[in-house]
Amino acid sequence: MRLTARKLQSISKMLDFYSQFNPSPLSIKKFIDFGLNASEQKSFVFLRKELPVRLANIMKEIALLPENLLRMPSVTAVNDWYMRSFQEIIEFEKREASDKTLEHFCSELVKIRNRHTDVVETMAQGVLELKESHDVDHHTEHSIQYFLDRFYMSRISIRMLINQHTLLFGGQLESAPGPNQSKYIGCIDTQCDIVSVIKDAYENARFLCDQYYLASPDLIINESQHKQLEDESCLNIVYVPSHLYHMLFELFKNSMRAVMEYHGSQDNYPPISITIARGKEDICLKMSDKGGGIGRSTTDHLFKYMYSTAPQPSKSDAHTVPLAGYGYGLPISRLYARYFHGDLILLSCEGDGTDAVIYMKALSNEANELLPIFNKTTSKFYRTVVQTGDWSNQATNIGDRQLSQNIKKHQLPQSCQESMTNAL
Ligand SMILES: Nc1ncnc2c1ncn2[C@@H]1O[C@H](COP(=O)(O)OP(=O)(O)OP(=O)(O)O)[C@@H](O)[C@H]1O
Ligand SMILES: [Mg+2]
Repeated sequence: MRLTARKLQSISKMLDFYSQFNPSPLSIKKFIDFGLNASEQKSFVFLRKELPVRLANIMKEIALLPENLLRMPSVTAVNDWYMRSFQEIIEFEKREASDKTLEHFCSELVKIRNRHTDVVETMAQGVLELKESHDVDHHTEHSIQYFLDRFYMSRISIRMLINQHTLLFGGQLESAPGPNQSKYIGCIDTQCDIVSVIKDAYENARFLCDQYYLASPDLIINESQHKQLEDESCLNIVYVPSHLYHMLFELFKNSMRAVMEYHGSQDNYPPISITIARGKEDICLKMSDKGGGIGRSTTDHLFKYMYSTAPQPSKSDAHTVPLAGYGYGLPISRLYARYFHGDLILLSCEGDGTDAVIYMKALSNEANELLPIFNKTTSKFYRTVVQTGDWSNQATNIGDRQLSQNIKKHQLPQSCQESMTNAL
């Protein structure tokens, strides 16, 4: 059912209204305190404003995308989903928080979450549609990268809010194994066992690697921690395990592929090692491989959406998860790390191997959500032409040309939809 012109006009007014507000970032600690102490009413009152604010901030940004991208069928579909969800939430703006309303609110949130399940791949498909039908200049390319980072981050945050509310008040408990259930507050694990998440991600990546290469590198886990913290347990953190799992799974897949490709038909493959380091400020996970590393001219592209050196996964394998090939692994993983003010970086030595480091804030009150804000600076970004360089270096232009060629070859079949959907 399409929205009528009148309805669209009234939604547009509401969008103007809600986009004036900045989103209110929450820390992991606040999520926990809220989960332990707040009533369903309180959560409802918070979300019926915060969700429209977050939606409106990003919807205003969608509207700034280049015209020809906005006209792509997949982007129109995504836009429609956002319009519809925004409209459904603002229906609750003035409702009294009766039991019936609270129940209805919860079921609407579940409906919205389901509607947005395929947003990542649908938006990616929209970008591909644009690239197939138009020549995309450097400025547009740059704007799209900028937008996708902000758009996907906004999505992670909106899903986090929806998940917390529905898990806490909708009777859906996080599927933690039996006795561990009580450690969860919504989707946050207050004693997240880093080693078991690492092992889980490793085993699942190894399963894919074995399928492709009939072998896989071993795993070595090392632990270290700041001297002043030696009494404390180094291996548990307060975190969202599904986010950590996502990052580790993507990094393992990348490292395994690099090791297997670089060492060809050897019998013994150098292991992948992970160092878990607990500092006062951050908990770092460093994954090191001996997969031959990455040339310096390509390191700038690693976090670009759709940059991949892997062959495009075959459409005939539409229901299997590929080891690599979409170029979404690193950029989305970095968003997860940055979401709670951590980070994800890659350091590589060509001819040797790559270190990937995940940083997570050690203190849950410092692990604040990092959220995109729509304001004048944002609008200016989409309108301003990227500055031309004032160094006599041709190399970056060459890299960009190779990148566009790579991207043109990419399609997003069903299997990608599944792997990305599971991720977010
Ligand atoms: N540890 C690594 N060693 C060597 N190259 C790497 C490593 N990690 C990433 N890369 C390079 O970075 C590229 C982008 O990685 P990314 O994970 O974003 O996409 P992908 O692995 O190609 O596809 P997918 O979306 O399925 O993960 C890879 O194609 C590969 O060329
Ligand atoms: Mg990858």
